[in-house]
Amino acid sequence: MFTISPHPSLLLLSLWFQSTQGRCVFDEVQQSVRVVTPVTGSSPTKHIEVSDSLAVFPASEQIGAFRWTRGTSLQYLQPQRTRGQAMTDMAPIRISTWIPQESVPLSEVDRERLDSAINQTVRIVSGLLSVRHIPGPLLLSRDINKYCKFIWRNASAANYNRCGRANGSYRNETCLDVVIPDEHLRGCAVFHHPDSPISAEFRREGAGLDNTDFLLYLHIQNSRRCSTEPSMLAYAAHCQTDPQGRPLAGTVVICREQLRQERYRHETTVQVLIHELFHVLGFSRTLFNTWRDCFHTRQAGMGCLPHGRVTNLDDTGHMRIYTQSVVRALQEHLNSTDPQLGGPLENVVHTTYYIHFYDYDADSGGLSSHWEARVLLGSIMTAALGEPSTVQIDHMTLAALQDTGWYSANFSRAQSLVWGQGSMFK
Ligand SMILES: *[C@@H]1O[C@H](CO)[C@@H](O)[C@H](O)[C@H]1NC(C)=O
Ligand SMILES: *[C@@H]1O[C@H](CO)[C@@H](O)[C@H](O)[C@H]1NC(C)=O
Ligand SMILES: *[C@@H]1O[C@H](CO)[C@@H](O)[C@H](O)[C@H]1NC(C)=O
Ligand SMILES: [Zn+2]
Repeated sequence: MFTISPHPSLLLLSLWFQSTQGRCVFDEVQQSVRVVTPVTGSSPTKHIEVSDSLAVFPASEQIGAFRWTRGTSLQYLQPQRTRGQAMTDMAPIRISTWIPQESVPLSEVDRERLDSAINQTVRIVSGLLSVRHIPGPLLLSRDINKYCKFIWRNASAANYNRCGRANGSYRNETCLDVVIPDEHLRGCAVFHHPDSPISAEFRREGAGLDNTDFLLYLHIQNSRRCSTEPSMLAYAAHCQTDPQGRPLAGTVVICREQLRQERYRHETTVQVLIHELFHVLGFSRTLFNTWRDCFHTRQAGMGCLPHGRVTNLDDTGHMRIYTQSVVRALQEHLNSTDPQLGGPLENVVHTTYYIHFYDYDADSGGLSSHWEARVLLGSIMTAALGEPSTVQIDHMTLAALQDTGWYSANFSRAQSLVWGQGSMFK
């Protein structure tokens, strides 16, 4: 029922039509970013270290898309009992923003415009998503493969996986093209002997960011992407995750020209920023398979095990996300109990002809980080957003973010939210 029109001219027309509204280039951008995850033993918080030990459980057999309906192989877990607990230690996500030095300076007016859009974006998103707060300051990790020339690889040595020799030409860590300030980064040390605890500090530990669960760098730029695609407003990528896979930091590049009075549209900007923020928080094809299953595998209120693969082709060859809340949300949306109703992702075009001629937003595996607009038109997570009044932070999108296992979503807000009507933009 959701098959793509097989007629080539229709397909081309619709691709062209969408791109005039400015398609999101997130997947292409994210693909270019090397994501840093702390190595075992240097987790950012004690809490995460504890829950990380769960990762030694077998990741359960993957029964593909429908695992939750047959989740009996996970007997050591108690879904009913833990479901309630799951939400209790969650609190609205605290998102800090940071404008790096390399951003182009803005006039005061343009700066106020941006501040207002950012503040609203952060307010909306933290009203929608809760997370287990990071105790203490957020510190990002340094990439051991960058600062280190030699890593101890003997698993029985005390300094296993630690740095044995520093890389003298190590400079910094980056997030997209932002240089991460040293103040935001953990320190690092060099252990000259595989078993000796004696180490030499190589970089000092920064102070980190207080009251922060996610750090968003705002890079205001006239980048090449901005200038080659005049309707481009912003694009983003995440660059750091915690050991559970939850993104901790990302960058959104905001195209400078879009902030000028003549072009600026507040509601569009906020919607695009929310869209990009949802990507970097987890609605991302590079993260789908690191989502955590908190329905079947939550243990004693702590960690949730990886889902394994959450995407699958349906009978018509359409790629969908099959996780509990997403399936239920779509079933409700379509008033159906069909178990094949996973969240439809924008489809890959199987004919290579189209891939060659159009920079289609899906990789060869058929994955895209956007909903299929033919089914979820108006959703904030379709690749091209329409008029602000037609765009919604829909139930499906919140269901997907909830199913990352990193967040709990406030669904009552999704239902009441209608762009341009509610109080959010007034
Ligand atoms: C690994 O480290 C242990 C403990 O230091 C040592 O006994 C062993 O010989 C090492 N193995 C190798 C292959 O270096
Ligand atoms: C949903 O489907 C059921 C059974 O097919 C039908 O009885 C009901 O009226 C439908 N509800 C809506 C709101 O369409
Ligand atoms: C969810 O949003 C509703 C409506 O804005 C609000 O009343 C409620 O307190 C929120 N729930 C949580 C858990 O934040
Ligand atoms: Zn996007």
